[in-house]
Amino acid sequence: MQDFTTERLLLRPLHLGDAAGMFELDTDPAVHRYLGGIGGPRPASLADSEATIRFIQAQYVANGIGRWAVLLRSTGEFMGWAGLKLVTDQVNGQRDFYDLGYRFIPRYWGQGYGYEAALAWLKHGFENLKLPRICAYADANNAGSRRILEKIGLQPGNEFVEGGTRCVWYEAVTPIPPLS
Ligand SMILES: CC(C)(COP(=O)(O)OP(=O)(O)OC[C@H]1O[C@@H](n2cnc3c(N)ncnc32)[C@H](O)[C@@H]1OP(=O)(O)O)[C@@H](O)C(=O)NCCC(=O)NCCS
Repeated sequence: MQDFTTERLLLRPLHLGDAAGMFELDTDPAVHRYLGGIGGPRPASLADSEATIRFIQAQYVANGIGRWAVLLRSTGEFMGWAGLKLVTDQVNGQRDFYDLGYRFIPRYWGQGYGYEAALAWLKHGFENLKLPRICAYADANNAGSRRILEKIGLQPGNEFVEGGTRCVWYEAVTPIPPLS
């Protein structure tokens, strides 16, 4: 679980020092606007955000992967999270797939950071983790998230309902290297 960077971002595993940032993220109604049935619990206290981080850290141990913190390289500010999660429950008739996700505090929106983080994780998943397939799903009305998924090259699939939310499925398979 080696940290990695993009032009503007530092990507690293979450730790308990991120709890205040996670609390700010998950108590902002704008962040959860399209996460109703699919975004997980909303924290009532810092302890709840610490519990969420511990839950994600347990996934690091069990699965070798999970959502990671995203920090602004220039200042070290916590911006939110992004990354790949092994989903073992059934979603859209599928299970045991790697789900690409991202969630940022609103003051960081609209500057290309979501795209930068999503693309970095897609590449990391295929090139370093050697995953055969990367999936994602978003509320059908979540235009920003859907634009990111399409811009990084995931193909849209079917619509389905998850947790009462109408979602669209996306996926990409390992790019086939050119034959020589
Ligand atoms: C979705 C989210 C990650 C977008 O992050 P962002 O950093 O603002 O996105 P970017 O600046 O990288 O924008 C990427 C593209 O999406 C477009 N976009 C971003 N937000 C948009 C919106 N609300 N409506 C329409 N398009 C939007 C941008 O214009 C850009 O497209 P372009 O390159 O063609 O101009 C951010 O809004 C967020 O954290 N939302 C809350 C959590 C969430 O919904 N996560 C996804 C769950 S599936």
